[in-house]
Amino acid sequence: MGVQQKRTRVCTHCLFTGVHCLPKLTHDTALAWTDCTARRNGKMGVVTTAVAQLADMLPQSETVQREWEAVVGEAGVVVDTVMGSRLLFWTVVLTAVYLVYRLLFVPARYRRRMHDVGYLMEPDQSRVERANEVRRRRLTGDLPPVYPNGWFQLCFSRDLKPGSAKQVHILGKEFAVFRTESGKVGCLDAYCTHLGANLAAGGMVVGETLHCPFHGWKFNCEGKCTDIPYSKSKIPEQAHTTSYHVHEVNGHVLLWFDAEDRDPTWYPPELKKINNGWWWSGFTRHYLNCHIQEVPENGADVAHLHYLHGPGLLSGTDLRDTHSSRFEFVKHNWYASWAPVEEPGKKHLSVLNLVHRLSIFGHELPVMDIKLTATQVGPGLVYLEWSSFFGTGVFVQTLTPVEPLYQELTHTIYSSFTVPQIVSKFYLIGEAKQVERDVMVWNNKMYRKNPVLVKEDKLIAQHRRWYSQFYSENSPTLSFKKDDDLSW
Ligand code: FES
Ligand SMILES: [Fe+2]
Repeated sequence: MGVQQKRTRVCTHCLFTGVHCLPKLTHDTALAWTDCTARRNGKMGVVTTAVAQLADMLPQSETVQREWEAVVGEAGVVVDTVMGSRLLFWTVVLTAVYLVYRLLFVPARYRRRMHDVGYLMEPDQSRVERANEVRRRRLTGDLPPVYPNGWFQLCFSRDLKPGSAKQVHILGKEFAVFRTESGKVGCLDAYCTHLGANLAAGGMVVGETLHCPFHGWKFNCEGKCTDIPYSKSKIPEQAHTTSYHVHEVNGHVLLWFDAEDRDPTWYPPELKKINNGWWWSGFTRHYLNCHIQEVPENGADVAHLHYLHGPGLLSGTDLRDTHSSRFEFVKHNWYASWAPVEEPGKKHLSVLNLVHRLSIFGHELPVMDIKLTATQVGPGLVYLEWSSFFGTGVFVQTLTPVEPLYQELTHTIYSSFTVPQIVSKFYLIGEAKQVERDVMVWNNKMYRKNPVLVKEDKLIAQHRRWYSQFYSENSPTLSFKKDDDLSW
């Protein structure tokens, strides 16, 4: 055995502690293993001894061996110290159990701010500075209107408890969203008709009304001012505020936006399984520096799937690296077709059918296939239903313009009980990483109103014709925007 050898080496034990060996020897002094008083006195830890023996078996040069012994010696003593201390031992065990529990059972929450991904960094420039510079300098192109008509996410249902209010800024506007104590959701113009306080910034929900935080005026879900607590006179007509259409479906609270102020002409379909057996495994959120139409147009851009999303996830999300030959052995193959729905009453829908097949070293693995059907529901929603070896599920994608060229993109995953939480989370993060490749393109591109297309790109032109139904005569355009006023 290695410990019986007499050759000179650094003692792996005293290297770390420096207390057991002869006082005249320093830490980096080579000494005979058998001279280590710790070993002689039987004080060597189990792990230290085991790794030291393992090190002895490896044929190495003297220098490499010294380094190796130093490393394993330190690691071994750390483990021995941990195991020797009850408090440390249980701290490590409980932390490990907690981390495994989180991995297996806690839904994922993955957020990326606008400056976090998708830029080519410059030396001496922070991410925020870089993102702002790109926003300022980039050519925007001849853009379509910035806010299409449709349903957009205000918040998750679970984030709006009965009796609570939420401040939401989307579509360049400030909203006060609240849920009454009976569970009804209201969405009002955030600024109070009295002196302009923000109803959501400190406003309380009592019963069925939202109370302004400044003087306590009370508003119901329809925007009617029902009480001015300190006044006996009649409530003026102008005290009533603007309320907006909201709809709660599939765990999301949605707002109807229409540039012509028309009532909703369609409603997003309910996915019954979300409330009936499928479980929620978390969400990812990205903030994008682009026009809203860029994102859904991706679905009809079949050619980009192979080029942008083909390289394996191991190659990352920085497009300068994704085609690196080091990761060529893994490939994502996509088989896609997109078409608008022609049925009367369903013209706001389009469907992308997709099969994802993994290939390793050029061999396709059909057993790993993921079949997806992405139904685009107006400009702000996509139901991406999938089925795989483990079961079925859906990504609900919401896309909401926060400002004209600033989008909030959220993917929420629900899956059948047969899909382990960890697998769902893997799908969710995999999807997020693929999206981040798109983000790098979106954050830096301009919008080409009249792009040069080849025959194989014909779906892009078809998609633009279909998408134009969401713009109307008074849809806000970028030119309406003044520096200090983003309202529409
Ligand atoms: S500002 Fe809202 S009650 Fe006065
Ligand atoms: Fe894409």
